[in-house]
Amino acid sequence: SNPIFFSSTLKNWYHRHRRPLPWRETRDPYAIWLSEVILQQTRVRQGLPYYLSFMERFPTVHDLANAPEDEVLRLWQGLGYYSRARNLHFTAKQVVSEFGGRFPEGYHGLLQLKGVGSYTAAAIASFAYKEQVAVLDGNVYRVLARVFGRHENIAAPASKKVFEKLANELIPVDEPDTYNQAIMEFGAIQCTPVAPDCLFCPLQQVCFAFQNGLVQTLPVKEKA
Ligand code: ADE
Ligand code: SF4
Repeated sequence: SNPIFFSSTLKNWYHRHRRPLPWRETRDPYAIWLSEVILQQTRVRQGLPYYLSFMERFPTVHDLANAPEDEVLRLWQGLGYYSRARNLHFTAKQVVSEFGGRFPEGYHGLLQLKGVGSYTAAAIASFAYKEQVAVLDGNVYRVLARVFGRHENIAAPASKKVFEKLANELIPVDEPDTYNQAIMEFGAIQCTPVAPDCLFCPLQQVCFAFQNGLVQTLPVKEKA
């Protein structure tokens, strides 16, 4: 499949399937960062009420940074992985103390924040700053592995570079942020881990996995 066909098909699909979500209506890097941290090991339906209460109680990074830790942890209750809440609080304080309360500019600038890894930096750079940088989560790995027939083990750290390279070759100049949301949403709704909806898929004709009977095989995911 060629990159223009792939990205425009996904964007077209997205315009027909997009769920309206509050972090898709903002370009505030703080709000986008908060949503991505909450959603990292959490489904949208479970994470949404947490996002809304955090934004209500801590509308800015200053409010979060100034809050007592036990209040942050209390608001996080039920989401699990409390280290994520502590990292969230730590990063808010770092943004305030080292960057005057403004998130650093650009993908590489964002990586200076402790607790902001390549995924979160790319998401903020894309959705808040509209940079042409690919966002890679589990959904994206799965879609790329199936459509492009990549057999690299997605659980192996060495595969990350391969998929990053492919993803950054595919990302369009035109609306790269919409494309990123589109491929993540496509993986969440259409090209799902179990029983993807291949029969009504706009990529069926160009999908390597579908054309070769490998939908159940790809992506390869083997823990070492
Ligand atoms: N999961 C992680 N990031 C997301 C986003 N921006 N929209 C929907 N689901 C997500
Ligand atoms: Fe995913 Fe199936 Fe569509 Fe291929 S044809 S992209 S496996 S939903």
